Amino acid sequence: MAPYNPKAKTAIGLRLAAGRPVAAFTWPPFAEVETLPEAPVLEVRDLRTYFHTERGTARAVDGVSFSVGRGRTLAVVGESGCGKTVTALSILKLLNMPPAEIVSGQILLDGRDLVPLTPKEMQPVRGGQAAMIFQEPATSLNPVFTVGDQIGEAIRMHRRISKQDERAEVIRLLREVRMSEPERRVDQYPHELSGGMKQRAMIAMALSCNPKLIIADEPTTALDVTMQARILELLRQMRETHGTAVLLITHDLGVVAETADDVVVMYAGRVAEQADVRSLFAKPLHPYSIGLFKSLPRVDRSEERLQEIPGNVPSPTKFPSGCRFRTRCPLAVAKCSEEPPLVEVEPGHRSACWFAADLAAGREVNFTASVSSQVPKAAGLAGGAA
Ligand SMILES: Nc1ncnc2c1ncn2[C@@H]1O[C@H](COP(=O)(O)OP(=O)(O)OP(=O)(O)O)[C@@H](O)[C@H]1O
Ligand code: SF4
Ligand SMILES: [Mg+2]
Repeated sequence: MAPYNPKAKTAIGLRLAAGRPVAAFTWPPFAEVETLPEAPVLEVRDLRTYFHTERGTARAVDGVSFSVGRGRTLAVVGESGCGKTVTALSILKLLNMPPAEIVSGQILLDGRDLVPLTPKEMQPVRGGQAAMIFQEPATSLNPVFTVGDQIGEAIRMHRRISKQDERAEVIRLLREVRMSEPERRVDQYPHELSGGMKQRAMIAMALSCNPKLIIADEPTTALDVTMQARILELLRQMRETHGTAVLLITHDLGVVAETADDVVVMYAGRVAEQADVRSLFAKPLHPYSIGLFKSLPRVDRSEERLQEIPGNVPSPTKFPSGCRFRTRCPLAVAKCSEEPPLVEVEPGHRSACWFAADLAAGREVNFTASVSSQVPKAAGLAGGAA
């Protein structure tokens, strides 16, 4: 298959443009027009996933929207408990319902809404059209079956294939994920593999049906730096070769900078900020994102003290009213007791903060003296964390 190129012109456009001067054409009149933007592979609209618990309703995901295009990587970042994994599990409907409930929203995979699908209808979607890679491969690989059995089963579930071809296909997939000695690994059990090898086996399983969407939840957190780089490279190759859309969940802003095209910053079940990766790193427009960047070590500013965001993410059964970040935000004012909408402050760059426009314009914002040492003035933020 030819490498996926999102900027490629349509075949007809290329032929026509190469054949004769475009001005000589009367039909079609749009020979020079590039391919129209493709519909996103995944579009999540106003998703709300709640847990009904003894302590009340936990609004773990509470009105989240984003989309991922073909061949693109969207990173979802945020502190522990922000709702990243619940968002991912909701998309593939892997949550136990009850106690979980998708109370509203749409999850459009290639334009088809997954929310109303029954468990039986979801089966061919999982693995076939969308696959998930988890942080801990041990939890998704069965210790009593060989790697070959498990990847083979994933292939059999979605494709008609003979036993002999299945083995060859498993070996091909193991080779594709750069597993050493694939002919030997195919007959090994998970406990015989290193952490990185298990992760590769899981990725091979995820790739077995050439899914349109891969959801990777902290896929490299348990791995050493070298293995992490290899796994990220593998995901990049998948995107470029097969046009796979990747939803990457991670704590690691370094991984985001290296891997993602677009970023969603989640806080307390909501989207705090959303932008392409360059814009977000150059000029974060939400105090929470700014706080995340300020807690990052930087090689170019070794003298600076890292600054933690004070406090913790509130429990989803007890979110504060108004802006959910206001209990920790150094810029909070009375107005923040009203909920700020997520608005587009700059092209493609959205923020849910009453001060987002001021931050974008570099205007000084009023923050209290008690916290003034924690967050620089708005003008000073423009340099961001790039
Ligand atoms: N089964 C459940 N019942 C009740 N609450 C739950 C359940 N699963 C998750 N939650 C809550 O939903 C919120 C979001 O959890 P989630 O696992 O999505 O966080 P996360 O952003 O992935 O965090 P981490 O970075 O630690 O993986 C948390 O407050 C969590 O306690
Ligand atoms: S709306 Fe207010 S509390 Fe929320 S992030 Fe902005 S300044 Fe902080
Ligand atoms: Mg998680």
